[in-house]
Amino acid sequence: EAIEKGGYEHFMLKEIYEQPRSIHDTYRGRISSDPFDIHLGGLYSVLPNLTEAKRIILIGCGTSWHAALVGEYLIEDLARIPVEVEYASEFRYRNPIINKDDVVIAISQSGETADTLAAIRLAKEAGALVLGICNVVGSSIPRETHAGVYTHAGPEIGVASTKAFTAQVTVLIMMAILLGRRRGTLTEERYRELIREVTLVPDKIEKILQSEELVKVISERFKDSRNFLYLGRGYYFPVALEGALKLKEISYIHAEGYPAAEMKHGPIALIDDTMPVVVIAIKDSSYEKIVSNVQEVKARKGVIIAVVTEGDTTIKEMADYTIEIPEAGEIVGALLTVIPLQLLAYHIAVMRGCNVDQPRNLAKSVTVE
Ligand code: G6P
Repeated sequence: EAIEKGGYEHFMLKEIYEQPRSIHDTYRGRISSDPFDIHLGGLYSVLPNLTEAKRIILIGCGTSWHAALVGEYLIEDLARIPVEVEYASEFRYRNPIINKDDVVIAISQSGETADTLAAIRLAKEAGALVLGICNVVGSSIPRETHAGVYTHAGPEIGVASTKAFTAQVTVLIMMAILLGRRRGTLTEERYRELIREVTLVPDKIEKILQSEELVKVISERFKDSRNFLYLGRGYYFPVALEGALKLKEISYIHAEGYPAAEMKHGPIALIDDTMPVVVIAIKDSSYEKIVSNVQEVKARKGVIIAVVTEGDTTIKEMADYTIEIPEAGEIVGALLTVIPLQLLAYHIAVMRGCNVDQPRNLAKSVTVE
């Protein structure tokens, strides 16, 4: 087992560190910036239907559902197709409306999650085109879908998903670019810029991983906290949910992810000087808004851990801790900002003496209802 862990103390840490490589494996042979090209072989046979879809429904559970949320923002933004995101377990039992020109895409690391499998069977019976984004080759979901894309992240052993999530998001980014290109919703210039952004991700993640020592310092300070709040807007809202989930799963600290602006409709009541608030405060179109969210937290004496764009000084002055992320386009932002949150959950869990790779009560793949 020590050999399988490749010198890392846990599979989860190894898998976090693998991400520059695994993301590269996900897009290798599928996109290129010399010459500019994008090609998802697994979707070839269904591309006309997918491009003309009236609606796309993304379904998943757990972390895969968070990837689906990022996918919703991506596909609506770049390809202008209406997208809905559903928990597989809700979708299958709520008598959903599924039309023949809908495309249902199941997202699943294992390809075996019982609720997701049942949801695709339902969608197939209703006559929808059903696709999969899965990691485990030959698993049940890829076998039962009409077509799909493998994430190629390699085996993920840690129960808490890390590299499978970033691989899923990478596939969704590629799909959104491809659809935007085919639907004419992207200019040539934007298309090229987006592809370039994707190819720059592995190097940027390498750089982010260098903040591990800082993350350890932060972890030491907050390892005994009883609650955490994670805030983000836009693409960073699902990242906030994912950061909170990682912490809950492996450290057993209660954590909530929230869209930053919704904070004032509830969670703000919880904030006091013992409450760590992790804010994804990247310089993007909603930067000014997130700055005021940070001010709102500080006014209530909350403790801010901010994930910021390299060189940001405004947030740095207000926050208690800042972790820097290299500048990047918004569409790859989720891939970058989730990395320090994975590391934070990991180190807090280790410091609390938790079983990181096999947290209590959780299974890698939930094959029962
Ligand atoms: C379990 C795992 C999670 C995973 C979820 C969905 O809860 O512990 O890490 O996100 O199942 O699994 P899937 O294999 O469908 O992505």
